[in-house]
Amino acid sequence: MTKRGRITLRTATAAQAAKLHALIGANREEGHLLPRTLSELTVHAERFVVAFRGRSLVGCAELAPLSPHVAEVRSLAVAASARAAGVGTLLVEELRARARRDGYEKLCAFTHAPGYFMRMGFSIVPHLWLTEKVFTDCVKCPQFRQCGQYAMVVPLEPAAESPARDLTIPLRLG
Ligand SMILES: CC(C)(COP(=O)(O)OP(=O)(O)OC[C@H]1O[C@@H](n2cnc3c(N)ncnc32)[C@H](O)[C@@H]1OP(=O)(O)O)[C@@H](O)C(=O)NCCC(=O)NCCS
Repeated sequence: MTKRGRITLRTATAAQAAKLHALIGANREEGHLLPRTLSELTVHAERFVVAFRGRSLVGCAELAPLSPHVAEVRSLAVAASARAAGVGTLLVEELRARARRDGYEKLCAFTHAPGYFMRMGFSIVPHLWLTEKVFTDCVKCPQFRQCGQYAMVVPLEPAAESPARDLTIPLRLG
């Protein structure tokens, strides 16, 4: 049976850091996500867009600045119970809109799931096209040069002025 549900996207708050930590932790192995500490999630909570179904936090993604020109999609995770309903796509699209509004020229992602990002217009590029990431995070990583992650980028068009907003979107949930 198909039921209709509503997904609300919001900017996260520090009070939601523990839920973010749990959601990222639960999807870390499957998504090859970087480990995140509760304290960094508390400090950077407002970089996250969170997806709620009712009172449940079912998805998250962070817009992390790498430079004044490039932002990164980080810690993208959707709870298993809310998959395949478009939540992940909504989160990435919202980060893309926010990055554009904030004046970034490119949005990137480092991922083991290139097909998922290609569906949303990202292209695979050499890691060295994203020196902002390589010379800050990658060089410190034990998996440097052997991580198997794809570097992916989508260019951003400058946006017309529009205020930050929360969104509620009806979705088909299986
Ligand atoms: C990847 C993830 C965020 C997708 O979330 P979602 O809300 O289920 O995704 P959407 O509903 O927007 O999209 C679903 C579609 O993407 C496809 N898809 C899901 N994961 C995919 C992957 N790894 N590679 C390619 N396509 C994928 C699904 O098959 C589905 O295709 P369909 O619409 O043709 O049926 C979610 O599966 C997840 O949290 N995985 C664990 C963590 C992770 O992998 N994070 C991304 C690392 S960068």
